[in-house]
Amino acid sequence: MSDVPVITVDGPSGTGKGTISSYLADWLQWHFLDSGALYRILALVAEKSMISRDDVAGLVSLANGLNVVFTCPGPGREVDVCLAGKNVGAELRTESCGKGASCIAALPEVRLALLQHQQAFRAPPGLIADGRDMGTVVFPDAVLKIYLTASAEERARRRHKQLKQKGIDANLLQLSVEIAERDARDSQRPVSPLKPAVDAVVIDTTSLKIEAVIELIAKLVCENIPGVSGWSGQSHNKA
Ligand code: DC
Repeated sequence: MSDVPVITVDGPSGTGKGTISSYLADWLQWHFLDSGALYRILALVAEKSMISRDDVAGLVSLANGLNVVFTCPGPGREVDVCLAGKNVGAELRTESCGKGASCIAALPEVRLALLQHQQAFRAPPGLIADGRDMGTVVFPDAVLKIYLTASAEERARRRHKQLKQKGIDANLLQLSVEIAERDARDSQRPVSPLKPAVDAVVIDTTSLKIEAVIELIAKLVCENIPGVSGWSGQSHNKA
């Protein structure tokens, strides 16, 4: 066990986990783990290396060799990742990469190979860990566990808006189907399925604006983390 405090933010895609985690990391000036990005990177590297999604030994060997460093991306921003000197951020965020990540994430051997990578992100002064099993498996001793939910329709609508803002054409109905498939795969796998930790605070964000969710969580942070007080809604307001 480590003394370094961890706050976990879990839940399905489209609940605002990434955005909220980036605000928290920026506010507290803590490290940030986007664990979904690790699974996405592995899926992308496997595809580029022609390693199939069922080649468990090949995937484990790739996972063991992954050397990824995330810097706090800034409030509301996604992590950027460079592979062989090339920025692959945009490729990582496609629905097809998300699906690939979700498929390989169902393999217990792959999850085990990525476990230590994820735990190595825990460093002073603290860590915000965003994912599916952060509170249940990777950091069971987290000082605060948040689990975000939202209706599938609302999550598809948010994702659609996000893609449009990036100038990517997307079909809302097709997105809803893909999200439902990914939810089913992530929550029904036998190993580390998507579910709230028993001691998680569950927040339904369906009818909440992102600012309201951040306010709610900031209040929980102030109540649970010694020495932290006062969220003023701006970045770089370290308590
Ligand atoms: O959060 P995301 O959409 O970037 O995650 C992509 C996929 O990776 C997700 O559908 C399931 C998998 N994943 C996981 O199994 N465990 C995590 N802690 C994070 C992501």
